Parts: sequence; structure tokens; C-alpha cells
Amino acid sequence: MTHTVIDVRNAIKQYGAGESAIFALDGVSLQIESGEYVAIMGPSGSGKSTLMNIMGALDNLTSGEYFLDGIEISSMDEDQLSVVRGRKIGFIFQSFNLIPRTTALANVELPLAYQGIKSAERKMRASKALEVVGLADRMSHEPTELSGGQQQRVAVARALATRPSLLLADEPTGALDSKSTHDLLDLFDQINAAGRTVVVITHENDVAERAKRIIRMRDGKIISDELNAKKAS
Ligand SMILES: Nc1ncnc2c1ncn2[C@@H]1O[C@H](COP(=O)(O)OP(=O)(O)O)[C@@H](O)[C@H]1O
Ligand SMILES: [Mg+2]
Repeated sequence: MTHTVIDVRNAIKQYGAGESAIFALDGVSLQIESGEYVAIMGPSGSGKSTLMNIMGALDNLTSGEYFLDGIEISSMDEDQLSVVRGRKIGFIFQSFNLIPRTTALANVELPLAYQGIKSAERKMRASKALEVVGLADRMSHEPTELSGGQQQRVAVARALATRPSLLLADEPTGALDSKSTHDLLDLFDQINAAGRTVVVITHENDVAERAKRIIRMRDGKIISDELNAKKAS
């Protein structure tokens, strides 16, 4: 049984006012079901990151509604948003965003610590997540001792450690070479095949082609939303 993970309705996100107002989201409605693998594409400035910040409960709308797993997010305050983020969403960014001078294991443990999970269980779950991304032998390495591809896989392990219902990635391959990109996308396939909902923002066709559904944005609007013919089953 699937259910609706993301339900954005008539989303408007406005920056500035008057003549200098920018509508980063200009009436976006979007539904994503559990188990989907969606790519969001569009030129720079089209509103992709703004939409990701909304879907990720990192930011609020100017108007419109957002439901995540059926819960209305659009009326929550910052404290409530941070609880939802911690429980339901795993984030991956272009720049990895790992904590420097901190081992891979400790980086992956961090979101579990925020949830109050005790040390022994934390270590077990973090090492398991690092095994899943193929870094069992790199757990005690710090970010500078890892390649970009490995750092991004630590970030994936960190995103998955809390068993989120949604994995959100903003230009995850933007800083990776083609081999690391390929490996990361294989990992996303594997994560999605295991039933997790994956949303990837990218301007690279190769990356979008791995998704089952491709959404295109322009000027704060969705201009197309299609199943990927190469992936549709
Ligand atoms: N914090 C902000 N303040 C003002 N304008 C912003 C802010 N964030 C984004 N914008 C503007 O909103 C539009 C969409 O930006 P963004 O969502 O980052 O696009 P994309 O990720 O597709 O490149 C752009 O015109 C951008 O300049
Ligand atoms: Mg962006």
C-alpha cells in the first residue's frame, strides 16, 4: 500500500516586496507517493532549492499548504519543524555538509544523538548505515581523509541512519567525478528499491535519467511532470 508522502498545494514563496518581489515558488502543487523516485530539474534560479527547502521542512511558505506524511507542516513553528525534519527526512547536499575533524562514524551518529538514542544503539545503527554505503572500512576516518565520493556516501549513511520516510538530495553529484556519480546513483537505486521515497534535484540529465519520474521547473512553476519512459515498468 502506498500513501502520499509529499502534498504541496498552491505553494507561493515570495522574497522581497513591491517591485523587487521575487516569486521563488509561484503556485506549485505537487504530490509524491511513498516509494517514488523523482528528479526535479530546471535552470538555475527556477525554484528547485526553494521547493526542496519547503519539502524538507527547512522553510515555510508565504501562502499555500504543505502536508508531509499527512501532517500539515505549513502551520508549524521552527521547533515543531525541526522535530519533523529529524524524524522524517534525510538530507543530502552538494557540499556533503559533514562535520570537520570528526570521524565518519561520529558524523553518522549525530542525528541519532539528537533523537536521544543511547550510545551503544547509536554506534550499531551508524556502523550498519556505513556498511550499507560500502564504507565499513572507513568508519574512523575524518572527512579530509576521504575522497569526495566517499564523503558523499557518509552523508547518505547519515541521512539514512534515522530511517527517514523521505530522502531529499539537492545537486548531490554536483561536486563528484563521473565514477563517484555513478556509484552514488547506484546507491540511490538500491535505497529506492528498498522502498524509500527519493527526491533528487539536479540539472544533469544523466542523474535525472535514473529517476522514474521527472519534474521540470521554470520561473517558480512546474512546467512538466512525466514518467521517465526509460524507467517506467
Ligand atoms: N533567501 C533568499 N532571498 C531572496 N531571494 C532568494 C532567496 N532564496 C532564493 N531566492 C531567489 O529565488 C529564486 C529561486 O531560487 P532557488 O530556489 O535557489 O533556485 P534553484 O535552486 O533552481 O537555482 C531565485 O531568483 C533566487 O535568487
Ligand atoms: Mg539550487
